[in-house]
Amino acid sequence: MSVVELLKEKIRQEGRVISDDVLKVDSFLNHQIDPVLMLKVGEEFARRFAGSAITKVLTVEASGIAVALMTGLSLKVPVVFAKKKQPSTMDGETYCGRVRSFTKEEVIDIVVAGSYLGPEDRVLIIDDFLASGEAARGLLKIITQAGATLVGVGTVIEKVFQTGGEALRDQGIRVESLVQIGSLAGGQIEFLN
Ligand code: G4P
Ligand code: NA
Ligand code: NA
Repeated sequence: MSVVELLKEKIRQEGRVISDDVLKVDSFLNHQIDPVLMLKVGEEFARRFAGSAITKVLTVEASGIAVALMTGLSLKVPVVFAKKKQPSTMDGETYCGRVRSFTKEEVIDIVVAGSYLGPEDRVLIIDDFLASGEAARGLLKIITQAGATLVGVGTVIEKVFQTGGEALRDQGIRVESLVQIGSLAGGQIEFLN
């Protein structure tokens, strides 16, 4: 079975529709993590972005890290995760982006130390969900501040009925979603791909 089919099977069996726009997948992605499946996800992103000369994978803590780590492992490049608050130990130059969280309804600043991203970097953004695209926009701001190049965005689950993916593609950004969900209305999960 392909990783896309495996993910859809998992979502069908274990996913819970919380509302018309939120899907809970805590059993393998957002709380408990299925490492065998995550490795397959990472290998699939590495395959799709092969030849893009990626030097770094970038995500946001917390849920993006598992997926990003497996992608970095497959691509053999470092993984950087933006922190949601600047630790007191982080000094020197920092890059900062602002993210409005859709599920938590708050605004947060995400930050990356200057040492881990620079003009020589070709960056792949990886995340668990693509919803409103706030995380990707914040990370893109960080990439821009670093003078680095965005190669593309890879996400495990894209909720196509929200506007994030479309807005990124309209900017000419390559977006690869393993599973696309067209609707969660009425508690029904409708897959597009
Ligand atoms: P974005 O992911 O496109 O930026 O959209 P949004 O701002 O709407 O999402 C904010 C947070 O909610 C992110 O996690 C994102 O991964 C998560 N999220 C969005 N839609 C869903 C969904 O349908 N189901 C689940 N389970 N999560 C969703 P975060 O707040 O950064 O938290 P963390 O889990 O990474 O710590
Ligand atoms: Na999340
Ligand atoms: Na996330």
